[in-house]
Amino acid sequence: TITPVILSGGSGTRLWPRSRSMYPKQFIRFLNDQETSFLGATLRRLPAEEGFGAPILSCNNDHRFLIKEELESAGIEAQAIVLEPAARNTAPAIAAAALIAMKNDPEAILAVMPSDHIIGNETAFRESILAAAKVAKSGRLVLFGITPSEANTGYGYIRRGSPFTEFNGVFHVDAFFEKPDKKTAEQYLASGDYFWNSGIFVLRAGTFINELANLEPGILKAATAAVQNAETDLGFLRLEAKAFASAPSISIDYAVMEKTDRAAMLPIDVGWNDVGSWSSLWDVAQHDADDNYINGNAVTEGTQGCFIHSDKPIVATLGVENLIIVDTPDALLVADRTRAQDVSGIVKRLKDEG
Ligand code: GDD
Ligand code: MG
Repeated sequence: TITPVILSGGSGTRLWPRSRSMYPKQFIRFLNDQETSFLGATLRRLPAEEGFGAPILSCNNDHRFLIKEELESAGIEAQAIVLEPAARNTAPAIAAAALIAMKNDPEAILAVMPSDHIIGNETAFRESILAAAKVAKSGRLVLFGITPSEANTGYGYIRRGSPFTEFNGVFHVDAFFEKPDKKTAEQYLASGDYFWNSGIFVLRAGTFINELANLEPGILKAATAAVQNAETDLGFLRLEAKAFASAPSISIDYAVMEKTDRAAMLPIDVGWNDVGSWSSLWDVAQHDADDNYINGNAVTEGTQGCFIHSDKPIVATLGVENLIIVDTPDALLVADRTRAQDVSGIVKRLKDEG
């Protein structure tokens, strides 16, 4: 069986002011036709009815009851809800999940997934996971490649190598570059040899642990101690704080994917979307005749290409283009759509300037 590992420890600051540290984006329904939160959709993506194992969730201690509610409303029993005493980014989180999975099944194959993506074609996605699992069994760390549409600097870039003879449609990875600068991303896009990293990984837990032992022994040591000394508490698995805090804070992309020679890539076309910012939400939302997306009560005139969300009785716009307007009870964001990536900088200023 394949064990879904769902990473839910990020804070989603680019979707401020709706995404907040105590209630981040994976728990929110952003679009008016969205049936569940992004996390709810992720939980239902690899279901037991299709033969997938009980998931391991990894999250921040503050969000434990939100996680529990999501599991209950999806009717899913987790293999473990792992609570991180402090966020150490994705490499330590995945290391802990891999060690926990191996206790139950030393041969466990993990499908590691962010909690905040949209997948348009769930059936094709499941088929890709099954195909990737076969490759992972042979000791490869499998990445999914997305055909890039712009020089986005928020993604990892995968340079495609030669095809595998034994696995149809799967390629060696010549190189992996996490979040290149704009100029480099433009070169990658122009070359046509690069794919975006989807951020979803299929791997044998044991292969990943071996790679960590070679490439990042500090992470493995910290995660091992944090799991060994973890406490079970009301159905949560609380990692031991001191050990986990000693792990370097680094993502799987920098810690492993840039350095390993065991990576393989399966290009996918499954309607993947990383809803990382207001502009990517605008991309996936249903637009009106003026190319606006409106959630709330709005009167618009001469308004085009805008994303408008408002909790207020009414919002009116006149003669504006390509704006993001997000009004909440205690904060209002007005931003140019092309600056959507920079909202996290505003949140950082708000925190620093208190
Ligand atoms: N448990 C846990 N602990 N989860 C975390 C932590 C942590 O400390 N930090 C982040 N996460 C979760 C986030 O909630 C998200 O679901 C997932 O891990 C990925 O983290 P992001 O912070 O969203 O990563 P990213 O978007 O900058 O980059 C990754 O995804 C891109 C595609 O969306 C990378 O894998 C890129 O290479 C990739 O292109
Ligand atoms: Mg992300």
